[in-house]
Amino acid sequence: MKNLRLLYISIAGNTRNFAENLVEYAKKQHELDSEKPLVDAIEISDQTDFAEESEDYFVSVPTYLDGGDGIDSGVKELMTNTMGEYIGYKNNQDHCLGIIGSGNRNFNAQYCLTAKRYSREFHCPFLADFELRGSDRDVVRIYQDMVERSAEVINQ
Ligand SMILES: Cc1cc2nc3c(=O)[nH]c(=O)nc-3n(C[C@H](O)[C@H](O)[C@H](O)COP(=O)(O)O)c2cc1C
Repeated sequence: MKNLRLLYISIAGNTRNFAENLVEYAKKQHELDSEKPLVDAIEISDQTDFAEESEDYFVSVPTYLDGGDGIDSGVKELMTNTMGEYIGYKNNQDHCLGIIGSGNRNFNAQYCLTAKRYSREFHCPFLADFELRGSDRDVVRIYQDMVERSAEVINQ
């Protein structure tokens, strides 16, 4: 299987840490079984030159929202907007296989809401969620979700 590509944005480092753990975990899986794909993690930031994606990718996006009353209406996305702009650039959304949200459950209804909003806006599945840096179990689960989703698309 081809390498899985993960585009992520991280402001305070949690999502970057999760992406790094996922890359390491995939490496170990690949060593044990060469059929298991590696993960290439690519950070998107305000400095990124936008590129037209020609291969499939996943997105990992944390949640930074302002205002609103805990429900979708009236919330304003902060900090992560570049990720949304990147997915919306040219035909990039056509290659997005799934969105992985992260956040903090203390935010209740707004937990992972940016990923949910992207999922709706760009018509790609909300694949998984994790809190903060994610646990070892989250890494295992989300790697599996990505592998299965990729296989599903290849078999279509
Ligand atoms: C100002 C601010 C607003 C946040 N708003 C939300 C929110 O609406 N929903 C949520 O689930 N998490 C929210 N969080 C938690 C972050 O999404 C969480 O800490 C995440 O792991 C940060 O990822 P990063 O370190 O990769 O930037 C917020 C955090 C901050 C500092």
